[in-house]
Amino acid sequence: MPVAGLGTRFLPVTKSQPKEMLPIVDKPVLQYLVEEAVASGIEEIIIVTGRGKRNIEDYFDHSFELEYNLVEKGREDLLAEVKKIANLAKIAYVRQPMPLGDGHAILCAAHLVHDEPVAVLFGDDIIDAQKPALAQMIEVYEQKQAPILCIQQVAEHRISSYGIIDPEGQEGNVYKVKGMVEKPKVEDAPSNLGIVGKYIITPEVFDCLLEAKPSAGGEIRLIDGFRKMLEKGSPIYAYQFEGKRYDTGDKFGLIKATIDFALKREDLGPKVLEYIKKIAEHGGVGK
Ligand code: UTP
Repeated sequence: MPVAGLGTRFLPVTKSQPKEMLPIVDKPVLQYLVEEAVASGIEEIIIVTGRGKRNIEDYFDHSFELEYNLVEKGREDLLAEVKKIANLAKIAYVRQPMPLGDGHAILCAAHLVHDEPVAVLFGDDIIDAQKPALAQMIEVYEQKQAPILCIQQVAEHRISSYGIIDPEGQEGNVYKVKGMVEKPKVEDAPSNLGIVGKYIITPEVFDCLLEAKPSAGGEIRLIDGFRKMLEKGSPIYAYQFEGKRYDTGDKFGLIKATIDFALKREDLGPKVLEYIKKIAEHGGVGK
């Protein structure tokens, strides 16, 4: 999980707070991702962090003072919740010294990966689904034995914000990828299938990332590694997931996730719904 980006879209809060630790109700975005990985059968996780992201390590560790305090107060319910976080998975941390791109961040973890496929989950794409999106992707990987990109249909006015695939052949929700274009204009887009921040990559992707030339801004992007791979004639597939996706790296995306997740909770849902109805009836806040 590369989480060393600057989170520019979420400034000013990301000045001293990782965007991956922003809460959806009461749980940081990154915990949803760790839980998704665990629920998909993954036991070992590497988190690529960077400057200003140290509270991530503290969060996924035990907090003895807090645990002691909760015992003293007899808050067994909260104690179990807090302890669970430290036992979710085996997590290793690597630091990306400079934010030189998501592909560069992944290369920072290459020495911990041993000639095996790995799932890459970007720190801001949450998918709410009955079966975790990553578990769905793993099934496709097992059939194809090649990198899998997670994709979704994108509305026309959003196409220029996505990496868009050029598909050639479709079997159900799975497409063979012929090419990909980063943030094209609608008229130049080869499809409306946009890449979402979840991938399964193979050792060959690491090799291709090493060969990929940094872009104008000096960044190495994961998409550059995939392009190199396609140039060599190696297959890549894209999978259109089942579920609802939230881009929590974007302010409106996090607000939508917060409302939807709150509405689904027994303790908050009815209150939140009542509040939303009231706002709608009055035509705005404070009216
Ligand atoms: P994003 O582009 O979504 O994240 O990168 P960002 O750069 O933090 O956000 P903005 O665009 O400035 O608002 C996708 C993922 O790759 C990680 C990010 O943390 C995010 O999880 N990333 C990005 C790195 O780990 N290192 C980088 O150099 C860039």
